[in-house]
Amino acid sequence: MKRTLLVLCLLSAITTNRLAAQGTYTPTADNLAQRQKFQDMKFGLFIHWGIYSILGNGEWVMHDKKIPYDSYKRLAGFFNPQDFNAKEWVAFAKQAGMKYITITSRHHDGFSMFGTKMSPYNIVDATPYHKDPLMELAKECEKEGIELHFYYSLLDWGRPDYAFDSQIVDGKPVKGDWDSYIKFMKDQLTELITKYPGVKGIWFDGDWERTKVNWHYDEIYALIHKLNPAIMVGNNHHVAPKSGEDFQMFEKDLPGANTTGFAPDQTIGKLPLETCETINNSWGFNITDRSFKSSKQIIHYLVNAAGRNANFLLNIGPMPNGKIQSEFTDTLAIVGNWIQKNGESIYGTRGSSVPPQPWGVVTVKNKTMYAHITSPQGGPYIFIPQVKEKVNKAVLLSNGSTIKFKQQPEGVFIYTTGLAIDPNDTIIKLTVD
Ligand code: GLC
Repeated sequence: MKRTLLVLCLLSAITTNRLAAQGTYTPTADNLAQRQKFQDMKFGLFIHWGIYSILGNGEWVMHDKKIPYDSYKRLAGFFNPQDFNAKEWVAFAKQAGMKYITITSRHHDGFSMFGTKMSPYNIVDATPYHKDPLMELAKECEKEGIELHFYYSLLDWGRPDYAFDSQIVDGKPVKGDWDSYIKFMKDQLTELITKYPGVKGIWFDGDWERTKVNWHYDEIYALIHKLNPAIMVGNNHHVAPKSGEDFQMFEKDLPGANTTGFAPDQTIGKLPLETCETINNSWGFNITDRSFKSSKQIIHYLVNAAGRNANFLLNIGPMPNGKIQSEFTDTLAIVGNWIQKNGESIYGTRGSSVPPQPWGVVTVKNKTMYAHITSPQGGPYIFIPQVKEKVNKAVLLSNGSTIKFKQQPEGVFIYTTGLAIDPNDTIIKLTVD
């Protein structure tokens, strides 16, 4: 009996400790301000770039083609992105209307795309390039007012201490050296946060590969916030946000849509939201993938994300020489042109005060509402439900012409007959009291 009591007491102490460790995160004022800024930015560029780019078959090529780690490592010897130019990448993102860049610092292949002291398997020490593109990018981003986030893989296919494929018992892989791997990640994250100027976010990925392991997130997240309390921590774990995280992400899906099936139980929480999607069907450079999304599809994704209160992080996989293929630059030039004219209805707005409608979505900024008609339904009006504030004026954003409307307690009717329909998005700007 005594023993049972002791065990129960111990168990409850452990649980309480765990809960305390999970529940103690209080974001600082700087962090809360950064969350607002993050939500204001709305549009970011995701970049998957690594030695896998040489093979032109996506970032999973080592795993999918069963390339032995030691053979795969040879790619480092050929990786020499002579045409990489941080200025060009940042200018490209800026022209497309993007406000931040999230780039792979280390992917599942374990290769570090930055100069790290924690492993020789990195772009400065293991390639003929010998330079650190992430440092150049960080400096250029800072100069140009573009925020920089680092993607960081939790999963590692090659490191012996990670021991990919190992059985997990008591929160650790049976093979490998879990403590050493956790320390390695902490040391690399410290480098990324302290050496690179202006880093504003860490984007974790790969959690889903080991659901039973103890990732030590409490320590890792606390370390990140100790080094810089404003850093936005996000994790692509496909479950509800955990304590210590600052934004919630959705992969290849608008928040809550779950068409991919990655996240059947992922409910939308209270943190800022971000959704990522690929410009074709690949994250890393894929030479045969020609399923390019059109500028219209990208604009719709951005608008639909904003209307659901989420940022849109659009991915490209640059080529191994450091250039971005023309299909991407051409499409994003069109998107950038569109945003230049219509950006006020996207940047700094919030969504979700009006639920998505068959005709489109609504974004809101202070006393202004923007109705985005992306799927015209053909009728003589659109109806915006749940508008409590008094509407004073409705105009077409593109030319300022006045539009007729009628407000009822249930919402607002906007009369659209004769309106010049924009094939991308007809935006009606409403001023409210
Ligand atoms: C998935 C892919 C990974 C990619 C990530 C980006 O997790 O497996 O390769 O980096 O999506 O969202």
